[in-house]
Amino acid sequence: MSEAPQPDPVATGQIEPRATIRFRPATVEDIDAIHGLIDEASRTTTVLPRKRENICEKLRDFLVGERDGRIIACGALALFSPVLAEIRSLVVAPDCRGQGAGVQLVGALLAEARRIGLHRVFALTDNPPFFERSGFRIVDKHTLPQKVWTDCINCPLYLSCTEEAVEIRL
Ligand SMILES: CC(C)(COP(=O)(O)OP(=O)(O)OC[C@H]1O[C@@H](n2cnc3c(N)ncnc32)[C@H](O)[C@@H]1OP(=O)(O)O)[C@@H](O)C(=O)NCCC(=O)NCCS
Repeated sequence: MSEAPQPDPVATGQIEPRATIRFRPATVEDIDAIHGLIDEASRTTTVLPRKRENICEKLRDFLVGERDGRIIACGALALFSPVLAEIRSLVVAPDCRGQGAGVQLVGALLAEARRIGLHRVFALTDNPPFFERSGFRIVDKHTLPQKVWTDCINCPLYLSCTEEAVEIRL
């Protein structure tokens, strides 16, 4: 005998519906929150640390994800040429991961890339499957321009880098 379907806990008011995430360009008010997200992630992942000054300087590259007045995600689109940009500093707050925020944020960054007329977006990542969900594919690192590697020189993992390059054509 099949079990009776369980009532939807949101519909029955047992739990609050999860508020949607609003993705928007970062403002100066978001600098500390962005710094906090990147700082935390840089301690446990290959995300490169960034100083507040650097975040401020590159603030217009950033989108943030806001839910219930809290910044729960950030990501930047760094331009290398009129056709090419990199997704950088992509972080979702640890307690908000696995709920779709990361995929939505990548979608918002790609929408912005299309809006400004870019043709290619890439990322360097040790998590290619995450990007493949959004249509990226793994490419040979050497197909990326030399100046992509400028930041790598300061990375402690420079000589033992495990990251792969993933790319999407828009
Ligand atoms: C990577 C990161 C941004 C993903 O954000 P998120 O909000 O957890 O991601 P989402 O919930 O949108 O999507 C995760 C999906 O990708 C899948 N996924 C994630 N990592 C995966 C992996 N290593 N292999 C296969 N699938 C993976 C999950 O199964 C999930 O799929 P589901 O929706 O079917 O369950 C987040 O984990 C993060 O901030 N990590 C630390 C910072 C970091 O490493 N950033 C660098 C990314 S280059």
